[in-house]
Amino acid sequence: MPVIVPGHESITQAAETLRGGGVVAFPTETVYGLGADTFNENAIRLIYKLKGRPFDNPLIAHVHDEGYVAKLAARWDDRCHRLAQHFWPGPLTIIVPKAKNVPEAATAGYPTIALRSPSHFVARELLRALGGPISAPSANRSGHVSPTRAAHVAADFADADDLLILDGGACELGIESTVLDMSGAPRILRPGSVTMDAIRAAINEDVSFVDVSAQMQSPGTSPAHYAPRTKAELVDRIALEQRLAAATSPIAALVMQDVEAGAHSVFIMPQDAELYASRLYDAMREADSCGASAIVIERPTRHGAMWDAIRNRLSRAAEHPTG
Ligand code: TXA
Ligand code: MG
Repeated sequence: MPVIVPGHESITQAAETLRGGGVVAFPTETVYGLGADTFNENAIRLIYKLKGRPFDNPLIAHVHDEGYVAKLAARWDDRCHRLAQHFWPGPLTIIVPKAKNVPEAATAGYPTIALRSPSHFVARELLRALGGPISAPSANRSGHVSPTRAAHVAADFADADDLLILDGGACELGIESTVLDMSGAPRILRPGSVTMDAIRAAINEDVSFVDVSAQMQSPGTSPAHYAPRTKAELVDRIALEQRLAAATSPIAALVMQDVEAGAHSVFIMPQDAELYASRLYDAMREADSCGASAIVIERPTRHGAMWDAIRNRLSRAAEHPTG
């Protein structure tokens, strides 16, 4: 499959592909996305088919800037405007009631639409070249670990011969955007690097966190997401050491500090939350491919919103997917 380092020509080619109803994988500052023209229903269906994504799980529409929101949202109030001014372009997804002209497929039939303006220059150039919104989930097979490198996308879609992948290098942030539902009282549906406190400060209003995995308000946030194929366990340090010492077959371990490795594959993770996040999915994919019988992840104990977002992804990875 063509993996292309973006220059002016390849971005023009990718925009042409989108215009022609095709699908393109592109980098954002969070993770790679698998994009199609928001207004092309067939192209949107192609994303679901390629990913194996359940048809009831809505997509994020990516926009170059707030100017495109009018075409997509039925309501964009002053609070949303303030959020966009504070956090766009960047890793904040804002859910609002959707405009009537947006195809049903683009929001999986939801009356709301998720909007985000990414900051990665390749994503921005692509949006500019298309001149319209791009609907894109993370560019992984449904339920699998999100991709933070072009090679991750290529590995997940090895059988999709004609998938165009724009290679923008490793994603800087490495975990998916904060998803904020603004269709009613502000609620965070998925934690990310834009924190609850920062959102509160921007809109001067209380914000709640909903554990949607329990309530299924945001289908992609169900348990058993972001998961490697090898069974993953999330344990504290003492249990990790015991687990490694007692294991009779090789284990892959993601640890916070060095540990007696023996025959196991040990990945020492960064102490800094931002660095940990940017390394996480790459480490999980490496751990997944080293032939280990299990992936054991040491639960980080540090406090802070970014660590909360990381623990959210880790506990989902440890809920083993069923399909
Ligand atoms: O950082 C990101 O958000 C990346 C990059 C590519 O932008 N995208 C991403 O997309 O993570 P995806 O589809 O993997 O996750 C989007 C999440 C899903 O949990 C989906 O269910 C939720 O947002 N979502 C999208 N539209 C929604 C809506 N209208 N109501 C509730 N949840 C929604
Ligand atoms: Mg995803």
